[in-house]
Amino acid sequence: MYSDKVMEHFNSPRNMGEIENPDGVGTVGNAKCGDIMRIYLEVEDDIIVDVKFKTFGCGAAVATSSMATELIKGKTIDEALELTNKAVVEALDGLPPAKIHCSVLAEEAIKAAIEDYKNKRKDAE
Ligand code: FES
Repeated sequence: MYSDKVMEHFNSPRNMGEIENPDGVGTVGNAKCGDIMRIYLEVEDDIIVDVKFKTFGCGAAVATSSMATELIKGKTIDEALELTNKAVVEALDGLPPAKIHCSVLAEEAIKAAIEDYKNKRKDAE
């Protein structure tokens, strides 16, 4: 029921871990399944130079975190904000309908991390 890409990202997730002193962190959870996803960002001149994730959740949540981090690495903050869960699902060659919410978590975690980055920057001004 899972695509080869989902299985591949689940078996060898990219960008798993954390960043010390990140420029932005976003943590989101899904109340229904109880899964939690955290995204760490390192940003230089508005470009995401590094991104890591920690996911306490299902296999699809791990695979979508992995793919989502790959998709925003090297992108500008504005480009990363445009990433939708749909794009993540497409990049993974699809997800079963019951697992779409896992990809929503990835989109939300990235948006939360970017918001944190923007707030931190505002405080520093
Ligand atoms: Fe909830 Fe996958 S089952 S994130």
